[in-house]
Order: sequence, then structure tokens, then C-alpha cells
Amino acid sequence: MKSNLYSIFVFLIGLFATYFVTKNFQQVEINAQKIEISTQSQAIAHTVKMQVLSHSQQLSITAQRWQTINQINENWQRDTNSLITLFPALSDISVYLLKKQPKLNIDNKYQQYFASDTELLQTAKQLFSLKKRLSISESSRVFQSDHEVIGNKQIITYQYAPIFIDKELIGYLQSTVNITQILDQLVAKFQITYPFSLSETGRTIYTVLPNDVLITDVKQQFSIPLLGHEWKLMVWPMHQHHFYRYAAIIGLILSILFSQLFYLVRLNKANKHKLSTQKSHLSAINEDFKASKSKLIQSNKLSSLGEIATGIAHEINQPLQVICIHADMCQESLQKQNYQLVEKSFSSIISQVERIEKIVKQVGSFGRDSELDNYNKETPASIFENVIDIVINQYNQEQVELRQVLPPSLPSILCNKTQIEQVLVNLLINAKDAVEDCEEKIVFIKAHDKQGKLYIEVSDSGSGIEPSKLDDIFTPFYTTKALGRGTGLGLSISYSIIHQHKGELQVSSEMNKGSTFTVILPLNN
Ligand SMILES: Nc1ncnc2c1ncn2[C@@H]1O[C@H](COP(=O)(O)OP(=O)(O)OP(=O)(O)O)[C@@H](O)[C@H]1O
Ligand SMILES: [Mg+2]
Repeated sequence: MKSNLYSIFVFLIGLFATYFVTKNFQQVEINAQKIEISTQSQAIAHTVKMQVLSHSQQLSITAQRWQTINQINENWQRDTNSLITLFPALSDISVYLLKKQPKLNIDNKYQQYFASDTELLQTAKQLFSLKKRLSISESSRVFQSDHEVIGNKQIITYQYAPIFIDKELIGYLQSTVNITQILDQLVAKFQITYPFSLSETGRTIYTVLPNDVLITDVKQQFSIPLLGHEWKLMVWPMHQHHFYRYAAIIGLILSILFSQLFYLVRLNKANKHKLSTQKSHLSAINEDFKASKSKLIQSNKLSSLGEIATGIAHEINQPLQVICIHADMCQESLQKQNYQLVEKSFSSIISQVERIEKIVKQVGSFGRDSELDNYNKETPASIFENVIDIVINQYNQEQVELRQVLPPSLPSILCNKTQIEQVLVNLLINAKDAVEDCEEKIVFIKAHDKQGKLYIEVSDSGSGIEPSKLDDIFTPFYTTKALGRGTGLGLSISYSIIHQHKGELQVSSEMNKGSTFTVILPLNN
């Protein structure tokens, strides 16, 4: 919940940051483009103006060169040819005369005649937007007509330069100026990259505007005053950086990713904390479990001791009786001063005391808390000897025969001796109990080694175990024995001890035929 809130907070911050960064960078980009477009606009406007004016200037220079009709007649061909050759955008050069000049003998197709000023003015009104009679100063200027579109989509205008002879205006030199051609050359020569458009009173003269340029994009407008006309230039930015177009989307994706990342990091931190708490809780439980397990092992052992206590008491009782007899005999022999017999009795007493001491030692060591013992290399023979010493009296008392096939030369195993002894005592007592009601009371204990493992089998010819109960017998507190005779812990503890030794405890049983429990221990651990 807390992580969710944090990640939403990070997401919102990301959104705001995206908005401000995009806005700021866009503004910077727009300002830079504005400056660039303004520079480009000035350059284009200037070049266009200069180009058109240079054409009118050339026309005017040619017209001014002619001071007499003769000069026109003589130089017409040469001058107009050189004009057309030097300035390819100029063509169709002809002359407009105020009245017929009989002396002018250039080709008729290059001549236009007007009866009067008024007629010229009439035509001029259509040609140029002149509103009144031409004054001297106006008539000395070069005029230009509105633009026209001719057949092959070329835009042209007409330029008119005045011709004065003896300071008298006799007419105009007229030429067609191909604007499209001039601008095409201009774009190629100056490698103009920015899209632009030229127009005159709303009608487009020329345009270089790629398809993907939006007309709402940043643009610069310029007015170009040109020979009585006003041309308009518009320049657009070439392109916009894609980054700014997609900045918002990139920002959005980034803020989602960051918020998710933040969420995961927070979640991971919370989980780690939760796990470490659980871990310490579990290790506390584990400690408790270990302590209880060790108590269980111990109590199971004590219960086994309880079971064999009568056997032990009998075992101790016998040497005690022998000691008593020899003590009496000592008294008698001393009275008779038969010191040889006294000595014999004493040595018998000592050997009986040693026997008791051995039993007490064995029971004592079996009853010790095995958790305190370490793993040592032990010979199986010494383990078997102790185990048999502990249970044999009980077997004898209950007239159960214990048949042993225990080779003395089995390889040593690394183990907790007391615990392995505890397992075998459990198995032997269980086997003895199983044959309790049988006519033939025989229990086998066999051992052998095979392929790096030690096998110890305890089998009986007893009641056997129901197949459905084979899994239950390893469950703690499962017992079929009478109250006070079994705790039901023997097999579950044996299983856990063998498992700790990286071994196996297997069982096979047949009803009314008997059971075999096999302990398998690794020899190379
Ligand atoms: N050799 C066997 N033959 C038949 N049944 C057996 C044999 N060994 C064990 N069982 C059955 O398994 C049960 C569980 O044995 P386990 O050694 O765990 O407990 P227990 O002998 O009843 O009591 P405890 O060993 O704690 O004194 C026994 O009560 C008995 O029913
Ligand atoms: Mg048992």
C-alpha cells in the first residue's frame, strides 16, 4: 500500500518534470528557429529583390544608352541580343512608342505604337497600376507589371524602362522577366534549405514548400517593395526535431518505468525486511525444535532403560549374591585360618564387582545425553558389543533367543556412537516385543558391508506389521503397546538419527511371519 502511494507520487513527479522539460526545450528550440528563420528570410528577400532590380537596371541602362533614333536602329539587334544572352530570364524585348516614329526601322514585331500619351496610359493602367498621368520623375523610373502565369506554369512579369531622346520621353523598352527561372536559379545557387513562398496581393508567385511542413509551424513574413509592387515572403522552419514531438510520450513512458522500478525496489525492500523477520522467527523455532528433539531422544532412551531395568536389576543381583556367598566363605576361611581360600574368595568378589561396574558403566553411558557427543570413527563390533550387553539380560529373562551374525572385521564408521546404539537398542526391544507371544522366540541381528555401505538388519519371527500401518510406525507417539510399555517414539527418533547420519532406515514386514528393519549407513562419510 505504502509502495503503491510512493510509486504514484514518483509517477506524478515524472509527469510534471516531462511537462516542464518539454515546454522549456520546445521554447528554446522555437526561439532558435525564429532567429534562424528571420536571418534566412532577410537573405532570401534581399537576394530576390536584388535579382529583379538588377534585371530592371540592365533594361534601364540599355534604354538610356540610346540618345537618338539612329542609335536605336543601329544597336537594337546587338543590344537586345546581348541583354537576352547575359540575362536569360529576360526575353521578348520590344519597344512601346508614344507615336509612330517613321525613322525607326527595326523589325515591326518589336514595335508597338500609341497615338498619344493617353493611349499609352490606358495600356499602362492595365500593365501597371498607375493612377494618374505620368510625371517626369515617375516616367524616368522602371515599372513592372503584375505577375502572370503563362502556358507551362511559368510566372512572368513585364518590366518597362523609359527611352528619352533629346530629354523627351519617346516610349518604353519592354521585356518579359521569367520570375520562376530567376527563383529556380536562386534556390540552386544559394542552396536555400528553408521552405519559402513568395506572393503578390495574395497570389502565389513561387513556392518551395515540402509536403510535411505544417503551415501553422513557426514562420517569418517579409514585405519586399519592388518597382511599385509589394511582394510578400514567408519562410517556414525546415523541420522540427522529433525529440520534441515525442518528448511527451518518452517522458510518460519513462515516468511509468521509473514508478514501476521504484515500486519494485520498495517492494523488494519490504519483502527483505519481512523475510529477515521470518528468518529470525524460524531460527528461534528451529532452536526450540532442536532442544525438544534432544529432550525426546533422551526421554526415549530413558524409556528404553525402563524397559530393560528388570533385566539390569537381575544382572546386578546375580553378582551381588555371588559376592555375599564369597563374603560368608571369607569369614569361615579366616576363622579356619585358611588364607588360601580367603584369597580365592576375594578375587571372586573383585571379579563380580568388576562385572557390576561394567553394567553400571554401560547403562550410564547409554543414558547420557547423546547430543553432547561428537562424531568419531567407531568399529561396528564395539557398538554391537555394548548394544547386546544392554539388551541381553532382558532377552534371557523373557527367553528370547538372539542370534548374531556380526563379523568382527567390519570397517569403521564415522558416527555418534551413543545414538547408533540407541537405534539398535530400539530395534532389538521392538523385535523382542514382537515375538513375545510366539512359540518360537527368535530375533536375528546381522551386519555386512557392501558397496561402501554398512547394513545392519534386525529381524524377528513375530506378529508382523499391517501394510497400511507401515508408514504410521515412524510417526511420533504411534504405538500399539500397552500404556506404560511404549511411548511410540522409538522408530521416529531412530529414523531421525539415521537420517542425520545420511543413512536410511528401511522396513519390510509380512503379517504373522515377522519383520525386518535395516539400518544402512555410509562408510565413507
Ligand atoms: N519388529 C516389530 N514387529 C511388529 N511391530 C513393530 C515392530 N517394531 C515396531 N512395531 C510397531 O511400531 C510401533 C512403533 O514402534 P516404536 O518403537 O516407534 O514405539 P514403541 O515401541 O511402541 O514405543 P517406544 O519404542 O517408544 O518404547 C510399535 O508400537 C509396534 O506397533
Ligand atoms: Mg520401540
